[in-house]
Amino acid sequence: MTVDKGYVEASIDPNINLVDEINRLKKEKRAVIMAHYYTRGEIQDIADVIGDSLALAQKAVNVDADIILLAGVHFMGETVKILNMDKKVLVPDLNAGCSLADSCKATDLKAFIDSHPDHTVVSYVNTTADVKALTDIVVTSSNALKVVNSFPEDTKIIFGPDKNLGSYINAQTGRNMLLWDGCCHVHARFSLEHILELKKENPNAEIICHPECKRPIVLASDFVGSTAALLSHIKDSSADTFIVATEEGILHQMKQSFPNKTFIPAPPELETGMCGCNNCEYMKLNTLEKVYLTLKYELPEITLDKDIAVRARKPIDAMLNLSK
Ligand code: 13P
Ligand code: SF4
Repeated sequence: MTVDKGYVEASIDPNINLVDEINRLKKEKRAVIMAHYYTRGEIQDIADVIGDSLALAQKAVNVDADIILLAGVHFMGETVKILNMDKKVLVPDLNAGCSLADSCKATDLKAFIDSHPDHTVVSYVNTTADVKALTDIVVTSSNALKVVNSFPEDTKIIFGPDKNLGSYINAQTGRNMLLWDGCCHVHARFSLEHILELKKENPNAEIICHPECKRPIVLASDFVGSTAALLSHIKDSSADTFIVATEEGILHQMKQSFPNKTFIPAPPELETGMCGCNNCEYMKLNTLEKVYLTLKYELPEITLDKDIAVRARKPIDAMLNLSK
């Protein structure tokens, strides 16, 4: 067995049933699996807790387990670890990064903050623990509007790293927050032209999108919200067809929860060398095989410097207190 590549490499007995074995290991080791809506359907189906970034952070506060396995991306594993320094936090593949988190290095943010010393720093949860440690308050796409609105209107704010979410919040609030120049490569790829073609073919469909999408997609959408907000909007909407502009993994929950409604994944721009789908390749690094091996060997584990974890916890707690 080795974890040299950031995930466990070991042979798996071809005769075992992976789902049964994962469930057995969960019981034996008092482990809990938390999964984001963007993971593969089969991972969502074996998870004890499934949700958007906010729900995962909220539920991570009171987990009754010795081991937490986070199926998602690295910053989510770090958030769970920050909230559970006394527990073992595992991720199936340490290579599951995030283009947004990667766009904001702590050293660069520190220099930016130093050149704008009178600003409050609001960071999207899609950031490293080092960046959170420099932050006044964390937001997710579910609560960004509420958190920003909690500050007096004349508060000077640095918002990062997602410029698309930031400009959506600026437009909703009439503020002029300073925006970090980052974006999610999956959400930035949606093609307005292809979405409008789909709408022509399905005139009764609602276009729904995540606020990480670019402004023209947001403006063309009937509803804008986090993954959890999209799910609750579908429940309340009288429409029976939805063009969905966010990562495709969420369609698993949409189809399971609303089997009588139709969901059409919004198409991305077709660029050379790109997959032409809406999958986040980082989220898709989580597989049943890796979940099984991670639980079996209790590797790889998220480790964090204690001082960073203490400093990063403060802005997360500030967010959680505002989101009750
Ligand atoms: P939410 O979970 O807040 O909807 O965000 C989606 C996302 O991009 C997670 O990486
Ligand atoms: Fe990061 Fe985008 Fe993947 Fe979400 S979908 S984890 S923001 S790269």
